Amino acid sequence: MPVIAVIGGQWGDEGKGKVVDLLAEKASIVVRFSGGDNAGHTVVNPYGEFKLHLVPSGIFYRHTVCIIGNGVVINPAVLISEIGQLNERGVDTAKLFISDRAHLIMPYHILLDGLEEESRAGKALGTTRKGVGPAFTDKAARLGIRAGDLLDKKALLERLRFILEYKNIILTKVYEVNPLSLDEVYNDYCQYAERLAPYIRETSIMVEEALNKGELVLLEGAQGSLLDPDFGTYPYTTSSSPLASGGCLGAGISPNRLNHILGVFKAYCTRVGSGPMPTELKDEVGNLIRERAHEYGTTTGRPRRCGWFDAVAARFTSRINGFTGVAITRLDILDVFPRLKICVGYKLDKQTINYFPASITALERCQPIYEELPGWQAPTSHINEYDKLPPEAKKYLARLEELIGCPVKLICVGPRREQTIHKTPIL
Ligand code: GDP
Ligand code: IMO
Ligand code: MG
Repeated sequence: MPVIAVIGGQWGDEGKGKVVDLLAEKASIVVRFSGGDNAGHTVVNPYGEFKLHLVPSGIFYRHTVCIIGNGVVINPAVLISEIGQLNERGVDTAKLFISDRAHLIMPYHILLDGLEEESRAGKALGTTRKGVGPAFTDKAARLGIRAGDLLDKKALLERLRFILEYKNIILTKVYEVNPLSLDEVYNDYCQYAERLAPYIRETSIMVEEALNKGELVLLEGAQGSLLDPDFGTYPYTTSSSPLASGGCLGAGISPNRLNHILGVFKAYCTRVGSGPMPTELKDEVGNLIRERAHEYGTTTGRPRRCGWFDAVAARFTSRINGFTGVAITRLDILDVFPRLKICVGYKLDKQTINYFPASITALERCQPIYEELPGWQAPTSHINEYDKLPPEAKKYLARLEELIGCPVKLICVGPRREQTIHKTPIL
């Protein structure tokens, strides 16, 4: 009964979509377990290039069931449009299911995400403004509406009436904007209900049955571990846990079912949105990485902040997730650099530290301590065997492995499935 959790080891956009699309070939179920349409997972395969926001990246295999788990917040309009686009491009969604326990993003969540960001002024978090934070706030505040609520329209109307009355007070009295109309919101959500009802069910039982049959289940992480509300750069984080432990909760399986936890890391670092990033490069090296890798947000198009690999942060996320293996993506982006740097410690005030501080004011003062390695200055994107990599690339990977403290299992040298080096088996 193998379960592999695929987890972002940095600040998101590590290439989880590519890795899940690759591993899903052997899986009977893929479950997205956290976040919402703040995620943007790029998949390049024989169907073309896709940017998935809610639908799991296993959707391209006819035999693979894809579940949007209870831990995800769903914008129904976004999901319906994503399903439509997949179908138009020949991708079947008959095996897609939605947990009846997944919460819904409502129009006031999107409005409030923008209004809250504006009210933070210089301290804005740089959210994706998709309503994800406010939807998780309502989940915790017991003011949420869940996918299962779409199946009982009378109860939905009552719940919406109660919640909207309260939300409209906040919209009109705190933010001084127009209230939302109960009729309009209700009618829109009734239409979404018609379209989505066939997909909604109790999904944790489906996962349980697959595991009991000894089938492979993948947990598809969204965001990255350094955006976790507990262990990330709080408050510059997202609102649900992207960690492996979040995977158990958000998919509805016991922690004792997790056998393999694959951490996905880029060969360097990126971050989109605000908050500390010790190895950020605001110079021509950072610009070169951004332009070579086209580091612009999949969901918002914002330029991603780029920098050298931060091994202090990586060792930390490996520990809190319990990674059993790592995938290093985008190695090819480093092909042109004569020298490479890896951050192996921080200088904090006058001290040298080797841990990732909880306090963002401390993290903002951290100066990276770098170790330099020679680059390989040769193309790698055509290579699919570990032994054929240039010796300097192997040394770079071996050093990452040593510093993270976890074996490298997969290496990606391009966005396509075949641009992958299987160094050691995951299962
Ligand atoms: P995710 O959110 O973790 O799924 O990652 P994103 O899709 O947001 O961003 C990763 C980007 O890197 C996408 O454009 C992928 O197509 C691309 N990608 C993944 N692996 C590689 C790789 O090894 N090399 C290159 N050049 N691109 C890659
Ligand atoms: P994937 O799954 C990168 C970031 C936002 C912002 C912070 C809070 O594609 O790796 P939110 O909208 O969640 O309230 O924004 O989190 N963020 C991501 N950054 N990749 C993502 O997802 C992200 N999802 C959220 O940019 O800094
Ligand atoms: Mg992404």
